[in-house]
Amino acid sequence: MRVDIVTIFPEYFGPLDLSLIGKARRNGLLDLAVHDLRTWTHDVHRTVDDTPYGGGPGMVMRPEPWGEALDALAPADAPAPRLVVPTPAGVPFRQALAHELADEPRLLFACGRYEGIDQRVLEHAGTRMPVTEVSLGDYVLFGGEVAVLVILEAVTRLLPGVLGNVGSLEEESHAHGLLEAPVYTKPPTWRGHDVPEILRSGDHGRIARWRRDEALLRTGRRRPDLLAALPAESLDKRDVTL
Ligand code: ADE
Repeated sequence: MRVDIVTIFPEYFGPLDLSLIGKARRNGLLDLAVHDLRTWTHDVHRTVDDTPYGGGPGMVMRPEPWGEALDALAPADAPAPRLVVPTPAGVPFRQALAHELADEPRLLFACGRYEGIDQRVLEHAGTRMPVTEVSLGDYVLFGGEVAVLVILEAVTRLLPGVLGNVGSLEEESHAHGLLEAPVYTKPPTWRGHDVPEILRSGDHGRIARWRRDEALLRTGRRRPDLLAALPAESLDKRDVTL
């Protein structure tokens, strides 16, 4: 997968050399480049923002540098990337969207700052490429950079060959619309707390059932919205008695 990121703070993306994302880059599974938006300014102050039309607090990112950046990184004679713009006004970022993005050959991230990017940039980009405005959650960050780190981590781990053990994708929270059951490792007793006996029984059928029950209970307590959204046919007879 090819990923381009445009930002006024390229230093935010240092961590993308680390851990499994860094390894995916070194292995050629992820081809990633970070670009400074100010490259596409032409005044001595390298201005990227201005006051909002209609008044109000804060500053808005001017369209011209963004237009030039997108022209350079998504030229008309090459296959168009999918443009992803993090904003608290976007659609919620969920595991299903992470899967969708992981299937794209090219992603282009535009990191807004201040009150956001002049909307005409996204309108114009929409005539050339698919555009998705994405929100991490119902809170406001300083800008899109941290959101891009989060989105990229969720997407990269879904790319074929990135995770050693693909089974962990099957089991994890949100894989089946449920939160994952609690996990334990050695020692069997620690500070007076025991690992649930059933996990040490070796009975794989009962262990699977226990994990399913715990996942349902946890989801019901912590995320009743997720439980309510589960299609009836994904519940078995035993589930409904919980
Ligand atoms: N930029 C600022 N706040 C954000 C949020 N909640 N999600 C995505 N991008 C953002």
